[in-house]
Amino acid sequence: MAAETTPGTPGRRAFNRLLLAGTGLAALSACTPEGSGLTPSAPASTSLTSAGNTTTASATPSAGPMPGSPTATAPPAPAPPTAAPAARHSLTDPASPWVVVNKHRPLAPAAFVPADLVQPRVRLATSGEAALLNSTTAGAAEEMFAAAAGGGVVLTLASGYRSFTTQIATYNRWVNTEGQAAADTASARPGYSEHQTGWSFDIGDGSGRDSFTPAFANQPAAVWAKANAHLFGFVVRYPWMFHEITGYYYEPWHLRFVGVEAATDMNTRGVATLEEYFGLEAAPAYL
Ligand code: DAL
Ligand code: ZN
Repeated sequence: MAAETTPGTPGRRAFNRLLLAGTGLAALSACTPEGSGLTPSAPASTSLTSAGNTTTASATPSAGPMPGSPTATAPPAPAPPTAAPAARHSLTDPASPWVVVNKHRPLAPAAFVPADLVQPRVRLATSGEAALLNSTTAGAAEEMFAAAAGGGVVLTLASGYRSFTTQIATYNRWVNTEGQAAADTASARPGYSEHQTGWSFDIGDGSGRDSFTPAFANQPAAVWAKANAHLFGFVVRYPWMFHEITGYYYEPWHLRFVGVEAATDMNTRGVATLEEYFGLEAAPAYL
């Protein structure tokens, strides 16, 4: 595990090249809840956690030291199986805030396009379709970015919606650069990316520092998001050390909207992945 993320190792270099490539690829380069009544607003009774305080970020196993750090140790074991919540939203409809897309669960239809793509009024670090999100996610993002700014933390929208066609180009670039096996650890195949749903987006911090690298986890934007995103309905979709479940290495920049209730429940119970939360099989590789 450490070898995959230890600075200086071929694996790490390749990983970082892939991640950095993703930054550029974003330039090449969301959905309506099912009558949910989901309101992406922070509960009045909750308080935001400062970027410098990671102790209350979550109880997830991803809260340990950075991979590759000399003090890095194995994280706690994954949360024990939890009873899946009552299915109030579809886990398969890409227009559902609970859709689970992973290497075992492609979008259906593969060429799905959200019906309500909008550009959120947030600080952008991208343009074109990548600056779009579905309307629910956009609203939640606006609230979250404003709350972060109120706490002195800059969040930028680095990469949002990606069409099926864009994902073809994105994935192929990764494959051509690093080979398919390495590409599959960081970039979804066309039809398998959450970005195509409009429910997900990548954040930056405005400086570009450590963007799309594991070290981004230590930047205030990522620390703040990890601690507070659930208050706005978001989860860090690919937490550290859960690639055997999610299929992807740690992406501290990739946030996914599931609604305040589910995100807060996951945070409270220390459930790190949607697969575990919804009682679905792990998806480490394509079938
Ligand atoms: N980087 C994530 C897994 C995607 O390509 O959707
Ligand atoms: Zn992403």
